Amino acid sequence: MKIAVLKESRENENRVALDPESCKKLIQAGIEVSIETGAGARAYFLDDAYRQVGVSIVPDIAELLGDSDFIVKVNPPGQRSNGRHEAEMMKPGSIMLASMFPTRNLDAVKKMAEGRITSFSTDCIPRTTRAQAMDTLSSQGNIVGYKGVLLGAVELPNYFPMFMTAAGTTLSAKVFVIGAGVAGLQAIATAKRLGASVTATDVRPEVREQIESVGGKYIGIELQQNTQGGGGYAAELSVEDKARQAKMLADHCAQVDVVITTALIGGVMAPKLLDESIVRSMKPGSVIVDLGADGGGNCTSSKIGGTIEIGGVKIIAPTNLPSSLPHHASMMFSRNLLNFVMAFWKKDESRFDLDWNDDILKACAVTHDGAVIHGPTLKALQAGNSPSA
Ligand code: NAI
Repeated sequence: MKIAVLKESRENENRVALDPESCKKLIQAGIEVSIETGAGARAYFLDDAYRQVGVSIVPDIAELLGDSDFIVKVNPPGQRSNGRHEAEMMKPGSIMLASMFPTRNLDAVKKMAEGRITSFSTDCIPRTTRAQAMDTLSSQGNIVGYKGVLLGAVELPNYFPMFMTAAGTTLSAKVFVIGAGVAGLQAIATAKRLGASVTATDVRPEVREQIESVGGKYIGIELQQNTQGGGGYAAELSVEDKARQAKMLADHCAQVDVVITTALIGGVMAPKLLDESIVRSMKPGSVIVDLGADGGGNCTSSKIGGTIEIGGVKIIAPTNLPSSLPHHASMMFSRNLLNFVMAFWKKDESRFDLDWNDDILKACAVTHDGAVIHGPTLKALQAGNSPSA
């Protein structure tokens, strides 16, 4: 089997799907690995490092794709500067593995179905113990939480830690984290390490203990509904619960210096939790870091991918934060992909086993044999949703 690692075509993407260390392990398992020239350069993995572990470097994308059975990327296939779409250059029947967020990238999904590519999206991998090592949402979410807090600290006109100096005492910053999944828990831990006093909330009741275990204080409301949306994800709140949560958020946001939002429904869509009246109730100089930006934003006032200021409150809504820490983000992403490939690699028969009875493969398969086979993506296509990327 020949695996190809592509240079990312998405704007401002610095990550690479496989680092040299993972390539080495694939080669040791009997797989041939090639990369497009300079694929890892923006993540500080240079061609030479790949060459040293036995990877071939191929400058021509069409030649690389035409000669590969298995293609790995960070993002879904996209348009190249030569005017051709990556999916159109792949061999029919080849396998594609990336974090595709297929419901948001319907154009790429259609192109893969048309090209008869069998594609798997790592963000659709089920939340099971066996799948955890392949879960790019977790590995990249951790980076989002960490970097989001750093951005907030940079923008805040105050220290995070308490300081007692000859010139006087400053109190520690109050940070409030909304949503305590992987990104939120890392945000709590990072803010705590920087010396802030941290509170956090979530709609899944079991999260209380996890918030406390990383140094946060839980605040919440008694929800009247079951918030388990299935597959480890939260469900959307009922109208009544939303109103009660909104009141709690309004009261608490007015008292803190930094609000970090990480809430997602179904791992994809960001519920709107902070409206402009909440922003205006906050102290001048406070900062909101909307880490739900990739899913549309948790704050109605956010300028997705940018920063705005309302009544002295800065709202930062960064997109694709993992790309801003590209070396470690790529290492983690790469390890997830390596674990995925090795789980289905039959070394003796030298083939990737498309075992359609396997719960992981079934859940994250997007296209196969000319058809879209991922339920939510099929629904989005049938509803005629316009692709966002
Ligand atoms: P996520 O990215 O889907 O959502 C982020 C957080 O927002 C979640 O904790 C969710 O409950 C919360 N949220 C949603 N609506 C909200 C609202 N209205 N107000 C406040 N918070 C709201 O979550 P993530 O990071 O993917 O984690 C969800 C759970 O799945 C966690 O318990 C995590 O440990 C688990 N998980 C398990 C994996 C595995 O076993 N393979 C892999 C990844 C996560």
